[in-house]
Amino acid sequence: MEEIKSSCSSSSSSVVKDEEEEMKKGSEELIATLPVENRGDGLPLYLFKGCWCPSFAFRGLIAADLHFQAQDSDIILASLTKSGTTWLKALIFSIVNRKKCALKDSPVLTTQPHDLMPFIEFDLYRHGNLPENLHQLPQPRLFSTHSHYSLLAHSIRHSCCRIVYVCRKPLDNLVSTWHFLKPLDENHQDMDVIVAYWKTDFGPFWDNVLGYWNASLENPDKVLFMKYEDLKVDIVFELKRLAKFLGFPFSVEEEKEGLMEEVSKLCSFEKLKNVEVNQIGKRVGTGAPVNAFFRNGKVGDYVNHITPAMVENLKKLTEEKFAGSGLVYNYSSSN
Ligand code: A3P
Repeated sequence: MEEIKSSCSSSSSSVVKDEEEEMKKGSEELIATLPVENRGDGLPLYLFKGCWCPSFAFRGLIAADLHFQAQDSDIILASLTKSGTTWLKALIFSIVNRKKCALKDSPVLTTQPHDLMPFIEFDLYRHGNLPENLHQLPQPRLFSTHSHYSLLAHSIRHSCCRIVYVCRKPLDNLVSTWHFLKPLDENHQDMDVIVAYWKTDFGPFWDNVLGYWNASLENPDKVLFMKYEDLKVDIVFELKRLAKFLGFPFSVEEEKEGLMEEVSKLCSFEKLKNVEVNQIGKRVGTGAPVNAFFRNGKVGDYVNHITPAMVENLKKLTEEKFAGSGLVYNYSSSN
């Protein structure tokens, strides 16, 4: 099933190299003008058009904006980190490729979900390098991003490609981030430091979410807004909604055969966590252990890690930030 995994190489021709050098020069000039903050572990974050963009993604973001050509059939998964990105990648890949290979032979069982749907700004356009063979990828091409909606490559926003955004309750997102970063750097042991980080990496959190929320209201055929918690409550319902939006609806026969249940089992936390490829090794670039993408996958775990005072502060802040948007989180229910 190698042919249906998304992969691509960096540029090699001299024309592309020249273009690449030109863009990199432009990025460096731009970076020199931007407000910069230290994430806490020494990693610079650049404030670019309202988004705190980590240095490992910035050059790629600029290069993609100038170079990436979206196709109408493309599917882009957008999310903040620790929102269920890994899960959605497995689900989307399985939905769109279910006719190409039986679920029992799915690449999801042998490939990390992040390699099935690479990040545009730091996998494809890593360090501002231009990938050459994107047009040769199997269709629909599957990509992902953590970028704000307003910073997506021009051609993504202005083509008919589809965008799925997955969002998670901020308190669980915060705790998941804390656990993810804790082993990577000792500065991140302290929850206060994490709160500062959480507000900034591809953030501010609320602006990232609201950008896609508003886009989904304005253009529901282009942007599907999903909540991690809804997927936990009724995965079959959400899968059906997702498949329909992607243009790969489940047929009546497939429903009767229980295919949606099978896809949800294949991509479940328990299944993916225990697949060997998700247990051993590290991600290229961030160096994060691959098993760090699977912790416990629970809703409401924040009560075990955040003080009641911090919980109240963050709930109030979130309420204020989302006021008037129509986006509401009810903390007394599981979704
Ligand atoms: P926890 O740290 O709360 O367990 P991301 O993929 O955006 O980095 O998000 C990671 C979070 O999603 C982690 O949350 C992880 O455990 C959870 N997760 C990963 N795979 C999942 C799955 N198949 N089902 C539900 N949650 C999953």
